[in-house]
Amino acid sequence: MGIEQHRSLDAKRYTSRDFAEREWESVWSRNWLLLVHEGELPDAGDFVVSKVGRESILSVRQDDGSIKCFYNICQHRGNQLVTTGEGSLSAFTCGYHGWKYALDGACTHAQDAEDFPVNPCGTLRLADIRCEVLGGFVWINMDPDAIDLKAYLGPVWDMLQTYPSDQLKRISGTSVRMPCNWKTAMDNFHESYHIAAAHPIGLHYMEDHYSKTQTTEFGNGHAVSINHGSIQAERLPKGTPIGPQIAQELIEWGLDPADFVGRERDTRIALQQQKRALAASKGMDHYARLSDDQLTDPYHFTLFPNSALTFNADGVLLLRATPDGDDPNRCILDTWFYTAATGSFWAKMLTNGADDNITDNVPRDLVEYGEANLGPILSDDAWVLAAQQEGFRSRGYRGAVLARQESRIAQYHAMIDHMMAGGSAAILAPLSSENSK
Ligand code: FES
Repeated sequence: MGIEQHRSLDAKRYTSRDFAEREWESVWSRNWLLLVHEGELPDAGDFVVSKVGRESILSVRQDDGSIKCFYNICQHRGNQLVTTGEGSLSAFTCGYHGWKYALDGACTHAQDAEDFPVNPCGTLRLADIRCEVLGGFVWINMDPDAIDLKAYLGPVWDMLQTYPSDQLKRISGTSVRMPCNWKTAMDNFHESYHIAAAHPIGLHYMEDHYSKTQTTEFGNGHAVSINHGSIQAERLPKGTPIGPQIAQELIEWGLDPADFVGRERDTRIALQQQKRALAASKGMDHYARLSDDQLTDPYHFTLFPNSALTFNADGVLLLRATPDGDDPNRCILDTWFYTAATGSFWAKMLTNGADDNITDNVPRDLVEYGEANLGPILSDDAWVLAAQQEGFRSRGYRGAVLARQESRIAQYHAMIDHMMAGGSAAILAPLSSENSK
Protein backbone atom coordinates (compact mmCIF):
# COMPACT_ATOMS: atom_id res chain seq x y z
CA MET A 1 0.00 0.00 0.00
CA GLY A 2 1.51 3.32 -1.08
CA ILE A 3 1.56 6.35 1.14
CA GLU A 4 -1.19 8.01 -0.92
CA GLN A 5 -3.60 5.37 0.34
CA HIS A 6 -2.95 6.56 3.92
CA ARG A 7 -4.28 10.06 3.38
CA SER A 8 -7.10 11.20 5.69
CA LEU A 9 -8.72 14.40 6.97
CA ASP A 10 -10.10 15.80 3.75
CA ALA A 11 -10.44 19.55 3.28
CA LYS A 12 -14.19 19.73 3.70
CA ARG A 13 -13.82 18.86 7.39
CA TYR A 14 -12.15 22.24 7.80
CA THR A 15 -13.83 24.41 5.17
CA SER A 16 -17.35 23.18 4.39
CA ARG A 17 -20.39 24.98 5.79
CA ASP A 18 -22.43 21.81 5.37
CA PHE A 19 -19.93 19.82 7.42
CA ALA A 20 -19.84 22.56 10.07
CA GLU A 21 -23.63 22.60 10.28
CA ARG A 22 -23.84 18.83 10.81
CA GLU A 23 -20.98 19.03 13.26
CA TRP A 24 -22.80 21.71 15.23
CA GLU A 25 -25.89 19.57 15.61
CA SER A 26 -24.12 16.32 16.46
CA VAL A 27 -20.92 17.35 18.27
CA TRP A 28 -21.30 20.81 19.78
CA SER A 29 -24.87 20.34 20.87
CA ARG A 30 -24.29 16.93 22.48
CA ASN A 31 -20.97 17.05 24.34
CA TRP A 32 -19.76 18.52 27.60
CA LEU A 33 -17.92 21.78 26.96
CA LEU A 34 -15.51 23.39 29.40
CA LEU A 35 -16.76 26.95 29.73
CA VAL A 36 -15.24 29.01 32.58
CA HIS A 37 -13.47 28.58 35.90
CA GLU A 38 -15.60 29.28 38.93
CA GLY A 39 -12.82 31.54 40.22
CA GLU A 40 -14.03 33.99 37.56
CA LEU A 41 -17.36 34.16 39.43
CA PRO A 42 -16.37 34.62 43.09
CA ASP A 43 -19.51 36.40 44.41
CA ALA A 44 -23.29 36.17 44.02
CA GLY A 45 -24.35 38.09 40.93
CA ASP A 46 -21.01 37.68 39.14
CA PHE A 47 -21.57 36.62 35.56
CA VAL A 48 -19.61 35.66 32.44
CA VAL A 49 -20.95 35.55 28.88
CA SER A 50 -19.30 32.92 26.67
CA LYS A 51 -19.67 32.59 22.90
CA VAL A 52 -19.90 29.02 21.67
CA GLY A 53 -20.47 29.09 17.93
CA ARG A 54 -23.84 30.68 17.32
CA GLU A 55 -24.78 30.51 20.99
CA SER A 56 -24.22 33.08 23.72
CA ILE A 57 -24.19 31.46 27.17
CA LEU A 58 -24.61 33.23 30.49
CA SER A 59 -22.98 31.74 33.61
CA VAL A 60 -24.13 33.26 36.90
CA ARG A 61 -23.06 32.78 40.53
CA GLN A 62 -26.19 32.23 42.62
CA ASP A 63 -27.05 33.50 46.10
CA ASP A 64 -26.53 29.97 47.48
CA GLY A 65 -23.03 29.75 45.97
CA SER A 66 -23.96 27.43 43.12
CA ILE A 67 -23.56 28.34 39.44
CA LYS A 68 -26.32 28.30 36.84
CA CYS A 69 -25.95 28.62 33.07
CA PHE A 70 -28.56 29.99 30.68
CA TYR A 71 -28.95 30.71 27.00
CA ASN A 72 -28.41 34.47 26.93
CA ILE A 73 -31.80 35.12 25.35
CA CYS A 74 -34.77 37.12 26.62
CA GLN A 75 -37.93 35.03 26.74
CA HIS A 76 -40.12 37.87 25.45
CA ARG A 77 -38.97 38.07 21.84
CA GLY A 78 -35.48 36.65 21.80
CA ASN A 79 -33.29 39.69 22.23
CA GLN A 80 -29.82 39.00 23.59
CA LEU A 81 -30.14 39.70 27.29
CA VAL A 82 -26.63 40.56 28.49
CA THR A 83 -24.37 42.42 26.08
CA THR A 84 -21.21 42.78 28.17
CA GLY A 85 -18.72 39.94 28.56
CA GLU A 86 -18.58 39.80 32.33
CA GLY A 87 -19.54 41.76 35.41
CA SER A 88 -21.71 41.67 38.49
CA LEU A 89 -25.45 42.44 38.70
CA SER A 90 -28.30 41.79 41.10
CA ALA A 91 -30.71 41.15 38.17
CA PHE A 92 -30.62 41.10 34.37
CA THR A 93 -32.65 43.64 32.39
CA CYS A 94 -33.43 43.28 28.70
CA GLY A 95 -32.65 46.43 26.74
CA TYR A 96 -35.58 45.99 24.33
CA HIS A 97 -38.76 46.17 26.47
CA GLY A 98 -37.31 46.15 29.97
CA TRP A 99 -38.13 42.66 31.22
CA LYS A 100 -36.13 41.71 34.29
CA TYR A 101 -34.77 38.34 35.40
CA ALA A 102 -33.46 37.29 38.80
CA LEU A 103 -30.09 35.59 39.14
CA ASP A 104 -31.85 32.20 39.10
CA GLY A 105 -33.45 33.00 35.72
CA ALA A 106 -37.00 33.74 36.94
CA CYS A 107 -38.78 36.59 35.17
CA THR A 108 -39.51 39.20 37.88
CA HIS A 109 -40.75 42.16 35.88
CA ALA A 110 -42.60 42.61 32.60
CA GLN A 111 -43.85 46.00 31.52
CA ASP A 112 -47.70 45.99 31.26
CA ALA A 113 -47.82 42.43 32.58
CA GLU A 114 -51.63 42.53 32.61
CA ASP A 115 -51.61 42.90 28.81
CA PHE A 116 -50.29 39.35 28.32
CA PRO A 117 -52.59 36.30 28.25
CA VAL A 118 -50.71 35.01 31.32
CA ASN A 119 -48.49 37.14 33.54
CA PRO A 120 -44.89 36.31 32.48
CA CYS A 121 -43.66 37.08 36.00
CA GLY A 122 -43.55 33.89 38.03
CA THR A 123 -44.26 31.75 34.97
CA LEU A 124 -41.39 32.38 32.52
CA ARG A 125 -37.73 31.66 33.12
CA LEU A 126 -34.55 31.97 31.12
CA ALA A 127 -33.79 28.74 29.23
CA ASP A 128 -31.23 26.96 31.36
CA ILE A 129 -28.40 24.69 30.25
CA ARG A 130 -27.12 21.66 32.11
CA CYS A 131 -23.95 22.56 33.96
CA GLU A 132 -21.61 20.79 36.36
CA VAL A 133 -18.51 21.94 38.21
CA LEU A 134 -15.41 19.73 38.29
CA GLY A 135 -12.17 20.83 39.89
CA GLY A 136 -13.36 24.40 39.78
CA PHE A 137 -14.15 24.34 36.07
CA VAL A 138 -17.72 24.91 34.91
CA TRP A 139 -18.88 22.61 32.11
CA ILE A 140 -22.08 22.82 30.10
CA ASN A 141 -23.99 20.43 27.89
CA MET A 142 -26.76 21.62 25.57
CA ASP A 143 -28.18 18.09 25.44
CA PRO A 144 -30.57 17.62 28.38
CA ASP A 145 -30.32 13.83 27.96
CA ALA A 146 -26.51 13.64 27.89
CA ILE A 147 -24.60 11.28 30.20
CA ASP A 148 -23.30 13.03 33.30
CA LEU A 149 -19.92 14.73 33.27
CA LYS A 150 -18.17 12.07 35.36
CA ALA A 151 -19.17 9.33 32.94
CA TYR A 152 -18.27 11.56 30.02
CA LEU A 153 -14.73 12.16 31.25
CA GLY A 154 -14.18 8.55 32.31
CA PRO A 155 -10.67 8.01 33.76
CA VAL A 156 -9.77 11.64 33.09
CA TRP A 157 -12.03 12.56 36.02
CA ASP A 158 -9.71 10.91 38.58
CA MET A 159 -6.55 12.21 36.93
CA LEU A 160 -7.76 15.81 37.08
CA GLN A 161 -8.51 15.45 40.79
CA THR A 162 -4.79 15.23 41.63
CA TYR A 163 -4.29 18.91 40.77
CA PRO A 164 -5.53 21.74 43.03
CA SER A 165 -7.57 23.10 40.15
CA ASP A 166 -10.36 24.34 42.42
CA GLN A 167 -7.87 26.93 43.78
CA LEU A 168 -6.87 28.33 40.40
CA LYS A 169 -6.93 31.99 39.47
CA ARG A 170 -6.68 33.19 35.87
CA ILE A 171 -3.54 35.30 35.36
CA SER A 172 -3.76 35.62 31.59
CA GLY A 173 -6.95 35.63 29.54
CA THR A 174 -6.10 36.32 25.90
CA SER A 175 -8.55 35.11 23.25
CA VAL A 176 -7.87 35.51 19.55
CA ARG A 177 -10.24 35.65 16.59
CA MET A 178 -8.43 33.24 14.30
CA PRO A 179 -8.79 32.81 10.51
CA CYS A 180 -9.00 29.02 10.80
CA ASN A 181 -11.38 26.21 11.59
CA TRP A 182 -11.58 25.16 15.25
CA LYS A 183 -10.17 21.71 14.34
CA THR A 184 -7.15 23.26 12.61
CA ALA A 185 -6.26 24.66 16.02
CA MET A 186 -7.14 21.53 18.00
CA ASP A 187 -5.14 19.28 15.64
CA ASN A 188 -2.08 21.28 16.65
CA PHE A 189 -2.74 20.62 20.33
CA HIS A 190 -3.07 16.87 19.72
CA GLU A 191 0.55 16.27 18.74
CA SER A 192 4.04 17.32 19.78
CA TYR A 193 5.55 16.33 16.42
CA HIS A 194 5.68 20.02 15.46
CA ILE A 195 7.76 21.20 18.41
CA ALA A 196 11.21 20.66 16.90
CA ALA A 197 10.44 22.65 13.74
CA ALA A 198 7.87 25.20 14.89
CA HIS A 199 9.07 25.78 18.47
CA PRO A 200 12.81 24.94 18.59
CA ILE A 201 13.01 26.98 21.78
CA GLY A 202 10.92 24.25 23.42
CA LEU A 203 13.74 21.73 22.94
CA HIS A 204 15.69 23.61 25.60
CA TYR A 205 13.24 22.76 28.38
CA MET A 206 11.24 19.73 27.25
CA GLU A 207 11.89 16.24 25.89
CA ASP A 208 9.83 16.13 22.70
CA HIS A 209 10.79 12.83 21.08
CA TYR A 210 7.87 10.46 20.53
CA SER A 211 9.74 7.51 22.00
CA LYS A 212 9.81 9.36 25.33
CA THR A 213 6.23 10.61 25.23
CA GLN A 214 3.74 8.63 27.29
CA THR A 215 0.37 8.80 25.57
CA THR A 216 -2.95 7.38 26.69
CA GLU A 217 -5.97 7.51 24.42
CA PHE A 218 -9.21 6.84 26.22
CA GLY A 219 -11.28 5.85 23.22
CA ASN A 220 -13.90 8.56 23.75
CA GLY A 221 -11.92 11.37 22.12
CA HIS A 222 -10.04 12.28 25.31
CA ALA A 223 -6.31 11.65 25.71
CA VAL A 224 -3.35 12.55 27.88
CA SER A 225 0.27 12.82 26.84
CA ILE A 226 3.17 13.30 29.21
CA ASN A 227 6.55 14.66 28.22
CA HIS A 228 9.56 14.98 30.48
CA GLY A 229 9.96 18.63 31.47
CA SER A 230 12.74 20.72 33.03
CA ILE A 231 15.17 18.83 30.81
CA GLN A 232 16.64 19.65 27.42
CA ALA A 233 15.67 17.42 24.52
CA GLU A 234 17.89 14.53 23.57
CA ARG A 235 17.77 15.64 19.94
CA LEU A 236 19.87 18.72 20.81
CA PRO A 237 23.60 18.17 20.16
CA LYS A 238 25.42 16.67 23.14
CA GLY A 239 26.98 19.41 25.25
CA THR A 240 24.39 22.07 24.36
CA PRO A 241 24.47 24.50 27.30
CA ILE A 242 21.46 24.58 29.61
CA GLY A 243 18.88 27.01 28.22
CA PRO A 244 17.82 30.15 30.09
CA GLN A 245 14.49 28.76 31.26
CA ILE A 246 15.92 25.71 33.00
CA ALA A 247 18.75 27.86 34.37
CA GLN A 248 16.22 30.24 35.89
CA GLU A 249 14.25 27.37 37.35
CA LEU A 250 17.38 25.87 38.90
CA ILE A 251 18.28 29.20 40.48
CA GLU A 252 14.70 29.64 41.72
CA TRP A 253 15.03 26.35 43.57
CA GLY A 254 18.50 27.03 45.00
CA LEU A 255 20.50 25.02 42.48
CA ASP A 256 23.51 26.29 40.51
CA PRO A 257 23.29 25.84 36.70
CA ALA A 258 27.10 25.63 36.62
CA ASP A 259 26.89 22.35 38.54
CA PHE A 260 25.12 20.78 35.54
CA VAL A 261 27.77 21.51 32.90
CA GLY A 262 28.48 18.16 31.28
CA ARG A 263 25.41 16.58 32.83
CA GLU A 264 22.74 18.78 31.29
CA ARG A 265 20.13 16.02 31.26
CA ASP A 266 20.26 15.59 35.04
CA THR A 267 18.26 18.75 35.69
CA ARG A 268 14.83 17.11 35.75
CA ILE A 269 15.56 14.66 38.54
CA ALA A 270 17.55 17.26 40.50
CA LEU A 271 14.62 19.68 40.34
CA GLN A 272 12.15 17.01 41.39
CA GLN A 273 14.26 16.24 44.47
CA GLN A 274 14.80 19.89 45.31
CA LYS A 275 11.13 20.79 44.89
CA ARG A 276 10.15 17.92 47.13
CA ALA A 277 12.68 18.99 49.77
CA LEU A 278 11.85 22.71 49.75
CA ALA A 279 8.13 22.75 48.88
CA ALA A 280 6.88 23.35 52.42
CA SER A 281 9.40 26.12 53.14
CA LYS A 282 8.38 27.88 49.89
CA GLY A 283 4.66 27.61 50.61
CA MET A 284 4.01 25.07 47.85
CA ASP A 285 1.81 22.87 50.01
CA HIS A 286 -0.07 21.55 46.99
CA TYR A 287 3.08 19.69 45.88
CA ALA A 288 2.28 17.09 48.55
CA ARG A 289 -0.56 15.74 46.38
CA LEU A 290 1.59 15.53 43.23
CA SER A 291 3.91 12.73 42.15
CA ASP A 292 7.60 13.44 41.51
CA ASP A 293 6.93 13.39 37.76
CA GLN A 294 4.14 15.93 38.15
CA LEU A 295 6.62 18.33 39.75
CA THR A 296 8.48 18.72 36.45
CA ASP A 297 6.50 17.18 33.61
CA PRO A 298 3.68 18.76 31.58
CA TYR A 299 0.56 16.56 31.65
CA HIS A 300 -1.28 17.52 28.51
CA PHE A 301 -4.97 16.54 28.51
CA THR A 302 -6.94 16.87 25.30
CA LEU A 303 -10.63 16.77 26.17
CA PHE A 304 -13.12 16.12 23.43
CA PRO A 305 -14.17 18.13 21.59
CA ASN A 306 -12.26 21.38 22.01
CA SER A 307 -10.18 21.82 25.16
CA ALA A 308 -6.54 21.14 25.94
CA LEU A 309 -5.38 21.48 29.54
CA THR A 310 -1.63 21.38 30.14
CA PHE A 311 -0.97 21.02 33.85
CA ASN A 312 2.37 21.61 35.50
CA ALA A 313 3.12 21.73 39.21
CA ASP A 314 2.11 25.37 39.54
CA GLY A 315 -0.82 25.86 37.21
CA VAL A 316 -2.49 25.04 33.95
CA LEU A 317 -2.64 26.40 30.42
CA LEU A 318 -6.08 26.17 28.83
CA LEU A 319 -6.07 26.10 25.05
CA ARG A 320 -9.53 25.98 23.56
CA ALA A 321 -10.87 26.55 20.05
CA THR A 322 -14.56 27.29 19.46
CA PRO A 323 -16.38 28.07 16.22
CA ASP A 324 -16.71 31.81 15.68
CA GLY A 325 -20.34 31.99 14.59
CA ASP A 326 -21.23 29.80 11.60
CA ASP A 327 -18.11 30.36 9.48
CA PRO A 328 -16.03 27.15 9.21
CA ASN A 329 -12.98 29.24 8.37
CA ARG A 330 -12.99 31.09 11.66
CA CYS A 331 -12.67 30.22 15.33
CA ILE A 332 -11.96 31.86 18.66
CA LEU A 333 -8.79 30.54 20.27
CA ASP A 334 -8.51 30.96 24.03
CA THR A 335 -5.02 30.91 25.55
CA TRP A 336 -5.69 31.26 29.26
CA PHE A 337 -3.27 30.60 32.11
CA TYR A 338 -4.36 29.74 35.63
CA THR A 339 -2.27 29.26 38.73
CA ALA A 340 -2.81 28.36 42.36
CA ALA A 341 0.59 29.83 43.27
CA THR A 342 1.12 33.36 41.98
CA GLY A 343 4.60 33.46 43.53
CA SER A 344 5.75 30.38 41.63
CA PHE A 345 8.49 30.36 39.03
CA TRP A 346 5.95 29.46 36.37
CA ALA A 347 3.60 32.34 37.19
CA LYS A 348 6.43 34.84 37.28
CA MET A 349 7.75 33.59 33.96
CA LEU A 350 4.35 34.06 32.33
CA THR A 351 4.09 37.61 33.60
CA ASN A 352 7.60 38.66 32.66
CA GLY A 353 9.08 37.83 36.00
CA ALA A 354 7.57 40.53 38.17
CA ASP A 355 5.41 39.53 41.10
CA ASP A 356 3.53 42.80 41.04
CA ASN A 357 2.52 42.18 37.41
CA ILE A 358 0.38 39.26 38.53
CA THR A 359 -3.30 39.97 38.94
CA ASP A 360 -5.79 37.32 39.95
CA ASN A 361 -8.77 36.67 37.71
CA VAL A 362 -7.72 38.97 34.91
CA PRO A 363 -10.58 39.67 32.48
CA ARG A 364 -10.79 38.02 29.12
CA ASP A 365 -9.11 40.04 26.37
CA LEU A 366 -10.55 39.31 22.90
CA VAL A 367 -8.28 40.48 20.08
CA GLU A 368 -8.03 40.01 16.34
CA TYR A 369 -5.42 37.70 14.82
CA GLY A 370 -2.36 39.84 14.15
CA GLU A 371 -2.98 42.06 17.17
CA ALA A 372 -2.30 39.39 19.75
CA ASN A 373 0.93 39.05 21.65
CA LEU A 374 0.80 35.41 22.65
CA GLY A 375 4.45 34.96 23.52
CA PRO A 376 6.96 33.09 21.36
CA ILE A 377 5.40 29.60 21.34
CA LEU A 378 1.71 30.40 20.89
CA SER A 379 2.46 33.17 18.37
CA ASP A 380 4.26 30.57 16.26
CA ASP A 381 1.23 28.30 16.57
CA ALA A 382 -1.18 31.07 15.53
CA TRP A 383 0.88 31.84 12.43
CA VAL A 384 0.95 28.17 11.42
CA LEU A 385 -2.80 27.73 11.96
CA ALA A 386 -3.69 30.65 9.70
CA ALA A 387 -1.32 29.41 7.00
CA GLN A 388 -2.60 25.83 7.27
CA GLN A 389 -6.22 26.96 6.83
CA GLU A 390 -5.14 28.60 3.56
CA GLY A 391 -3.65 25.24 2.61
CA PHE A 392 -6.94 23.45 3.25
CA ARG A 393 -8.61 25.78 0.73
CA SER A 394 -6.07 24.96 -1.98
CA ARG A 395 -6.55 22.41 -4.79
CA GLY A 396 -3.12 21.17 -3.80
CA TYR A 397 -4.35 19.79 -0.48
CA ARG A 398 -5.14 16.11 -0.90
CA GLY A 399 -5.56 15.09 2.73
CA ALA A 400 -3.10 14.59 5.57
CA VAL A 401 -0.57 11.80 6.04
CA LEU A 402 -0.34 11.17 9.78
CA ALA A 403 2.61 9.72 11.68
CA ARG A 404 1.81 7.20 14.41
CA GLN A 405 2.73 9.84 16.99
CA GLU A 406 -0.13 11.96 15.58
CA SER A 407 -2.69 9.27 16.43
CA ARG A 408 -4.54 11.53 18.89
CA ILE A 409 -5.60 13.64 15.91
CA ALA A 410 -7.03 10.56 14.22
CA GLN A 411 -8.76 9.53 17.46
CA TYR A 412 -10.66 12.76 18.01
CA HIS A 413 -11.62 13.06 14.34
CA ALA A 414 -12.92 9.47 14.55
CA MET A 415 -14.99 10.56 17.55
CA ILE A 416 -16.43 13.44 15.50
CA ASP A 417 -17.36 11.00 12.72
CA HIS A 418 -18.83 8.62 15.30
CA MET A 419 -21.07 11.32 16.73
CA MET A 420 -22.03 12.69 13.31
CA ALA A 421 -23.17 9.16 12.47
CA GLY A 422 -25.46 9.25 15.51
CA GLY A 423 -23.15 7.53 18.01
CA SER A 424 -22.99 8.30 21.71
CA ALA A 425 -20.35 10.06 23.80
CA ALA A 426 -19.68 6.88 25.79
CA ILE A 427 -16.24 5.27 25.80
CA LEU A 428 -15.62 3.50 22.50
CA ALA A 429 -12.64 1.27 23.19
CA PRO A 430 -10.48 -0.15 25.97
CA LEU A 431 -7.81 2.15 27.35
CA SER A 432 -4.46 2.17 25.66
CA SER A 433 -1.28 3.39 27.29
CA GLU A 434 2.04 3.32 25.53
CA ASN A 435 4.93 5.37 24.34
CA SER A 436 3.95 7.00 21.07
CA LYS A 437 5.83 5.04 18.47
S1 FES B 1 -37.19 41.08 23.86
FE1 FES B 1 -36.59 41.35 25.91
S2 FES B 1 -38.07 42.53 26.82
FE2 FES B 1 -38.72 42.30 24.80
